[in-house]
Amino acid sequence: MTSELLLQAASAPARSRGRALQAALREAVRSGRLAVGTRLPSSRDLAADLGVSRGLVTEAYEQLTAEGYLRSGRGAGTWVGDAVRATRPPARDLAPRPVGARADFVPGTPDLSLFPRASWSAAQRAVLAELAHPDLGYPDPRGLPRLRTALAELLARRRGVVADPERIVVVSGVTQATTLLGFVLHARGVRAVGVEDPGSPQHAELYAAAGVTTVPVPLDDEGLAVGALRSSGVRAVVTTPAHQFPTGVAYSARRRAELLDWARSVDGLVLEDDYDGDFRYDRAPVGALQGLDPDHVAYAGSASKSLAPGLRLGWLLVPERLVEEVVARKRTLDLGHPALDQALFARFVERGDYDRQLRRCRRAYRERRDALLDALREHFPGTEVSGIAAGLHVIAALPERYGPQERFLAEVASAGVAVRPLSDCRHPGTEAEAAAADEAGGGTECQSVGKGDIRLVLGYAHLSPARIRDGVRMMAAAVTH
Ligand SMILES: Cc1ncc(COP(=O)(O)O)c(C=O)c1O
Repeated sequence: MTSELLLQAASAPARSRGRALQAALREAVRSGRLAVGTRLPSSRDLAADLGVSRGLVTEAYEQLTAEGYLRSGRGAGTWVGDAVRATRPPARDLAPRPVGARADFVPGTPDLSLFPRASWSAAQRAVLAELAHPDLGYPDPRGLPRLRTALAELLARRRGVVADPERIVVVSGVTQATTLLGFVLHARGVRAVGVEDPGSPQHAELYAAAGVTTVPVPLDDEGLAVGALRSSGVRAVVTTPAHQFPTGVAYSARRRAELLDWARSVDGLVLEDDYDGDFRYDRAPVGALQGLDPDHVAYAGSASKSLAPGLRLGWLLVPERLVEEVVARKRTLDLGHPALDQALFARFVERGDYDRQLRRCRRAYRERRDALLDALREHFPGTEVSGIAAGLHVIAALPERYGPQERFLAEVASAGVAVRPLSDCRHPGTEAEAAAADEAGGGTECQSVGKGDIRLVLGYAHLSPARIRDGVRMMAAAVTH
């Protein structure tokens, strides 16, 4: 148990292995995964399990004992101390990327080295020179008119959105857009919203913070199962129609129409999370759902995948009836997005730099996706890969001979390869139900995760083709007996 929690740290480069081991042990105690009073293995046994020197383990035990995380008994033995109050483990999607992984396929990050530093810094100098003093005062909480106008043009042209600048709110990412809507819906008496299952754990987390519970709605191969949505009784639902997270399904035209019919019939709201909708490889991106019915769809997007998540820059388009409440919420949260960042991004969009960046990223990511598909074909023959037409990750369903999944994940982790199983994206509770249904010979919709299945969500955008090939080779070496 203890050694499983530390395996990843043990495979860190020699230089930082001691520090990584201490950090992992500290985190295991802090999160409660190692409960108060747990007796730790002897330094000799743990060092042997992890394949590290005994000195490193002894040093880690001594350091954490000095800090109060561990205590050592009068005789031999080390226990988890009771000085720390266990905290809930952080949400999976918000957790930092694995430290020290030799290959990291965890999805969610674009290639940050593609950030256009030269044109960004030119835009920064230019806006600093052109902004008048009053422009540095408190901004309009909806966002600078200049940026909302530029975004309206961009989103109408690229995503087919009905983009009235008056209905756009500049936010710090899809995350804040979701939180704002959560608060607004809560204030209107909404206590539950539907979410895709499997889906982004972040959606449930953000709604919970606004006091709204989430109801998992299954998917089939055309998108969200609208029949199940209807019988759930909710009147709002969060969706990722361009490239469903994580399955990669693009909602069919028929399913889009059914979803909007549902929204009209319950006078409800669809939140469209367009987190990676710009990246489509086989043809032009499918237009946003919002364009079909802007009165029943709130549309959220950000520069997190196209530029960098660290910018914390995004946009939310809301139906007319919600504008005032959303803007009021934004005002109470932070009085509006930083003015300088907005002016800079407006200039970046106006001058075509943003379009150039999207073209550049799309070329790079398509090449990486192809490298991943080739490597999987070579090293994991028989693997079914889906969700490949768009986005920054794919789903790989490995043949049964590599299973069971738990063993596969442990072996891959011990080789220092970080991957995320699709089962991590199931809504809590539904994974067990799906397994039980499988056991009974049933299965739930198309995304059931059976006992023998290994389904991985593999992110590729942040890795060069060479690193992708190396990573898949390492993964294969770890599981081929
Ligand atoms: C489903 C989904 N939505 C949104 C985001 C991005 O959120 P933000 O725009 O706040 O960076 C992510 C990030 O990985 C995501 O996976």
